[in-house]
Amino acid sequence: MSRAVALGVPLAACALVCALAASAVEAADDEPVDAASQPSKTVIAHRGASGYLPEHTLPAYALAHGMGADYIEPDLVLTRDGHFICLHDIYLQATTDVEQVFPDRARDDGRWYAADFTLDEVRQLQAEERLGNRFPKGRSRFVVPAFTEMIELVQGLNERTGRTVGIYPELKAPEWHRAQGLPMEESLLEVVGRYGYVEQGAPIFVQSFEAESLKRLRALGSELRQVFLMAEVAQYRSFLSAEGLAGVAGFATGIGPAKTMLERQPELIGWAHDAGLTVHPYTFRADQVPDRYDSHEAELRRYLFDLGIDGVFTDFPDRARAVVDEP
Ligand code: G3P
Ligand code: CA
Repeated sequence: MSRAVALGVPLAACALVCALAASAVEAADDEPVDAASQPSKTVIAHRGASGYLPEHTLPAYALAHGMGADYIEPDLVLTRDGHFICLHDIYLQATTDVEQVFPDRARDDGRWYAADFTLDEVRQLQAEERLGNRFPKGRSRFVVPAFTEMIELVQGLNERTGRTVGIYPELKAPEWHRAQGLPMEESLLEVVGRYGYVEQGAPIFVQSFEAESLKRLRALGSELRQVFLMAEVAQYRSFLSAEGLAGVAGFATGIGPAKTMLERQPELIGWAHDAGLTVHPYTFRADQVPDRYDSHEAELRRYLFDLGIDGVFTDFPDRARAVVDEP
């Protein structure tokens, strides 16, 4: 656990302390660090430093920046009025108090969909931790950020610290959004382009579980790096071969498989590398270490150094940073 969090320092101060600590480290190095060009293993803060603070909140993103993440991940969904917000689910009730604030706005399936709410309405909600064993529910105050607020936070901290921490946005359920009249790909390119993420080497990875969405982004002219996410379900089986991964290279620059897929089929890593694809598996959690590992660090070392992956999605970016930086 971060010492600042353990001591109960208020969140804003904690984020500032962490950011300034990172700044002090970087001050020893005259050249600003360009994370996009670093050959080192990539530390991706999954939903921010979500092991410590509620996922997809600005404090969780700020803490991740201060903890030395190379990239910070927002999952993205769209509001009814077409704004990206940082949220893992296409509905709101798992991580906000929407049921209390808007009791009559659920659909027939009993879910409160973000696509039925305006950004102004979402701003009225309190965000809270999803998992029971993490940040105490009901404590402090968190909100659901707009994607633009997340970008401005990261870019502001980059300016203040001299580090270039990138963003790693995931489009959630793009086909579903399109069916709701909310196409995501055009909007994403407009937003990230407005904030300077245009060139091939810009410090951004765009990720999706849907190949068609990544292909659509390419068809719209995007040259940004793209990561094709894969889960252990049938729809991805056709990609799990040397030939299949060579095909992925036609619309992505990397893959993001569930880490268990690599444990089961480690040859995927070599096939991906042969196809020119990076490999960034998800999700490494210090509070959910599989029994076969003695420690979280042992699990990280196994994937990073024995299996040879290129980076990790982690809820605990400080722990991954320490392992990646081991001499
Ligand atoms: O995007 C990588 C990983 O986050 C995918 O799983 O469900 O946490 O978005 P999920
Ligand atoms: Ca994600």
